[in-house]
Parts: sequence; C-alpha cells; structure tokens
Amino acid sequence: MLQTEHIKVDQSKQGFSGFKIELWKYQGEMGALIPLLQSAQETYGYIPESAIEYISEIVDIPSADIYGVITFYSQFRLKPMGKNIIKVCDGTACHVNASTAIIKTIESELQISNNETTEDGLFTLNKVACLGCCSLSPVIMINDETYGRLTPKKVQQLLNEYRENAEKD
Ligand code: FES
Repeated sequence: MLQTEHIKVDQSKQGFSGFKIELWKYQGEMGALIPLLQSAQETYGYIPESAIEYISEIVDIPSADIYGVITFYSQFRLKPMGKNIIKVCDGTACHVNASTAIIKTIESELQISNNETTEDGLFTLNKVACLGCCSLSPVIMINDETYGRLTPKKVQQLLNEYRENAEKD
C-alpha cells in the first residue's frame, strides 16, 4: 500500500530555490522515484546531483540505484540541455533521403550521440520520428528554425553558423 506524507522542505537550507515545496514519501517503493525525478527535471531542466542526493534521502533508496533508474529512462537527463536543441528527423521520408548521413555528420561534428549535450553546452541532439515536413526531407530543426533538403556539407555550414553566432553573443 502506497503511503504518502507531505514533507516540508527548507529550500534555503537545501539550496533548492526552484524545487517544488511538497514532495511525497513513498516508503521505499521504486515507482515513487519517477514523479520525484520528473519534478526535479521540470524544475531544473535536468536532474542535478544535489537533487539525486536529496531524493535519495526522501525515498531511502541509495543514489547509485537512482542513477540506474535515471539512465534506464530516456526521458531523464543528467546534464542541462544545450543552448541550441537540434531535432534531427529519422522518420521514413527522411530516412530514405539519407538522414543517416545527416545524423552521422552532426554526431561527428559535435562529438555527441542522441540525447547528449556538447561539452560547451552549445548543442543538444535529439532524434525524432517526424518533424511534419516530409516534403523537405531530410530535415532538422534547430530551436524553432526548420532546415530542409540538407546535405552533410550544408549541415556542417549550419553548425558553424550557430557556433559563430554564439561567439558573438
Ligand atoms: S519523416 Fe522527416 S519530416 Fe517527416
């Protein structure tokens, strides 16, 4: 039986200024971790180490086990999202129009894989199933901008433009 209990969090003491005030105590039930982890990610955009330690105390589950859960579910991130979110389409239309070459180019240019963020925090890469503009395939989106009919060379140029703009900021 799931037991719940509201816990008052002294945010100033914990340094969790944005964290939700009310958390639940589920008495060691592993399923309880998910809403807590979702809450942390909603607040911070990722799950920082300090939040893991804090949640570990609340649910009385070792941090190492919590890391295991986080890495099991692709919805969770251990690092902040990059300044620029690249959504690269690998849906059917894009796939037949060589999206694999586009993905490989991005991965090798940025030295990251799917769902990872570059060391400099400039880019996060997310593969998606369809961006809804298949006639432009292969397609990627960077933040709110859509780029279609791409080639590996065009992608390299695009990434360089974003890098250059970041330097100007
Ligand atoms: S399959 Fe790529 S945009 Fe639809």
